[in-house]
Amino acid sequence: MDKKKIILDCDPGMDDSMAIIMACKSDALEVKAITTVSGNYSVDVTSKNALKVLELIGRTDIPVGKGMPEPMVRKSPKDPFTHGTDGQAENHLPDPATPLCGRHAVELIIDTVKANPGEVYILCTGPMSNVAMAMKKAPEIKSMIAGIYAISGAFGLNRYAYANATGDTPQSEWNVYVDPEAADIVYNSGVKLVALGLDVATHFDVNLTDGDIHMLEQSDKPEAKFFLQAIRFVNQRGFEAYCAVIDCMAVGYAIDPELVTTITGRVGIETKDGLTLGMTVLDSRHHFVWETLPEVEIGESADYEGFLKLLMKLVLA
Ligand code: BDR
Ligand code: CA
Repeated sequence: MDKKKIILDCDPGMDDSMAIIMACKSDALEVKAITTVSGNYSVDVTSKNALKVLELIGRTDIPVGKGMPEPMVRKSPKDPFTHGTDGQAENHLPDPATPLCGRHAVELIIDTVKANPGEVYILCTGPMSNVAMAMKKAPEIKSMIAGIYAISGAFGLNRYAYANATGDTPQSEWNVYVDPEAADIVYNSGVKLVALGLDVATHFDVNLTDGDIHMLEQSDKPEAKFFLQAIRFVNQRGFEAYCAVIDCMAVGYAIDPELVTTITGRVGIETKDGLTLGMTVLDSRHHFVWETLPEVEIGESADYEGFLKLLMKLVLA
């Protein structure tokens, strides 16, 4: 079977780091590039962290392009959560010897899509600033992107959606909250978008068994140790294990779309300051909807057991 070509646009971040590990170790995916953005941390830190993880798993052949230092029109907000002083759950990996690829993330996205028209999926596990900028700079790429799978939004489909809100307004998700204008551009771009929101990506069923923990402890893989430390880190702060692997759901979906059940819905992004900034408003009225809002696929539920099995298999491989 042909491998699915992907660009992983991310802001590592402990769960982005786990997503990098998962994507790079999967036989089903060909990671053409990793592009970094400001989000969980400044783009200097997220770029360094991407290189650190690639060195950890011996995949420094994958180019890393550093991207937008700030959201499109706003200042970077302060994250109400923390991924640790190093942004990687206090794993404190060594400083990378591998250099960045020398191309800006926006250019790398444009060039990679143009070189593989109709074949590249973009996985967004950070704010959408790089992807929106690429669409602004080279609008012709929109028709060449195979699809976008994003950890994005909260749609109120279950009790986790808002209870686990990661943005700094009561019902927003961090990646949209940081750069709502970018999300607005991407959602309205016409590119097929699958938004895996907090409804599915922060489900409490994403938990490891004692057997899983034991297997990680027995493994001599550095990525297994990285994962264990991330779980310890979130547990110590009173969070469930899901927190360490939120972004992995986008990779799981890219590998096996059967893992997530989606619904189609019209969604608007709130770009006005105040109580609702960054909300992804799903128009689910049955009598009539705003047809001007873009139609996207939204994660409704997932096979959490299957997802965890896949994640464990790839970490231990
Ligand atoms: C998102 O917020 C970040 O902290 C995580 O890396 C993830 O991409 C979830 O809302
Ligand atoms: Ca992220």
